[in-house]
Amino acid sequence: MLQLVEPEELRGALLAWFDRCRRDLPWRRTEDPYEILVAEIMLQQTRSEVVATRYQGFLDRFPRVDDLAEAPVDSVEAAWSGLGYYRRARNLHRAARILAERGRLPASAAEWAELPGIGAYTSALLASRCCGESSPVLDGNVERVLSRFLASGEPPRRAAARRKLLATAARLLDPSRPGDSNQALMEVGSLVCRRGKPDCGACPLAPGCRAFRSPGLDPRAFPVAGPRRAREVRHCFTAVVRRGDELLLHRRPGDADWLAGRWHLPTVELASGDESARVAEALGREYGGSWECDERAVLVRHAVTYREFLVRAAVARWRPERTPEETAANQAPVDQPSLVWFRDSEIDGLPTSSLLRKTLDSVGANRADPPIHSGP
Ligand code: ADE
Repeated sequence: MLQLVEPEELRGALLAWFDRCRRDLPWRRTEDPYEILVAEIMLQQTRSEVVATRYQGFLDRFPRVDDLAEAPVDSVEAAWSGLGYYRRARNLHRAARILAERGRLPASAAEWAELPGIGAYTSALLASRCCGESSPVLDGNVERVLSRFLASGEPPRRAAARRKLLATAARLLDPSRPGDSNQALMEVGSLVCRRGKPDCGACPLAPGCRAFRSPGLDPRAFPVAGPRRAREVRHCFTAVVRRGDELLLHRRPGDADWLAGRWHLPTVELASGDESARVAEALGREYGGSWECDERAVLVRHAVTYREFLVRAAVARWRPERTPEETAANQAPVDQPSLVWFRDSEIDGLPTSSLLRKTLDSVGANRADPPIHSGP
């Protein structure tokens, strides 16, 4: 009969491994709850290697929660550049305003979860790190570690499976160091219990791991896959309009279902990919003015989780509409308010997206006077 070590008995080994093997990351050197909050929000959707390049700069710019609360949201978004998912920056700014006004920090996971942008995972992690609360967390890494530990036959996204994984994570938490226990489990997932290449010989949890200890089981077979979400394909057309060293951009609405709040090239969504003849008309309806688009377009693919955007992009020319007053006075039209010209040098400081660079690279329009390439 297989003799497995109980999770509680592995707490010490897990923390000892973490103390010995953990990566020296800047957000692990601080006990300051504000600095931990900033790191954990950045780490929600951005890899730690990227966060490590931006974290200190953000804290230098906004060293305390009051500095962040008092700053205009645009400057917070600019300091967030390179991290993506800018909604997090706006939520962090709102959270800082709430905390600064209250004058005290949350004292539990439930209180952290009242702040914008902080869900079950981040509130549990913050409470464990900042309040000493034994609140377990599940991220993708921990799901994999514990699915193997239990040799769970259920996809980890199912509610019943999640409950079991969370209960095991709770049993692995040392109540005297819950924040370190949570980070240790994540670190085991990042460094040892990797997706395709688990290093079971180096794992502090191996004595209790069912997938490792059961003859005939392969840890790589866990977690088992759930049903795949159907892919959603969306067709768009993007216009690349230049004026010398300036590029025409549009700020997408904060509630858009993709690239929310980001500056992007004028883009219209199409019902299908074969409407290229109608794009000038569609751009006119969306942004005003008259549009003329180069016939040679390139196709840029942009995948966001289960969605795939098939974006046809082309160099275009845009003439703003004249208002009746401008026409009467025979004046040049002023730019449409939703479209703004930006110098190339200004664009890096704006909240944009990887799609903007990808599109400009594909169209060959990163510089003034672009060479025009035909599409694939
Ligand atoms: N992912 C998110 N936060 C983390 C942390 N504090 N340590 C390791 N991985 C993480």
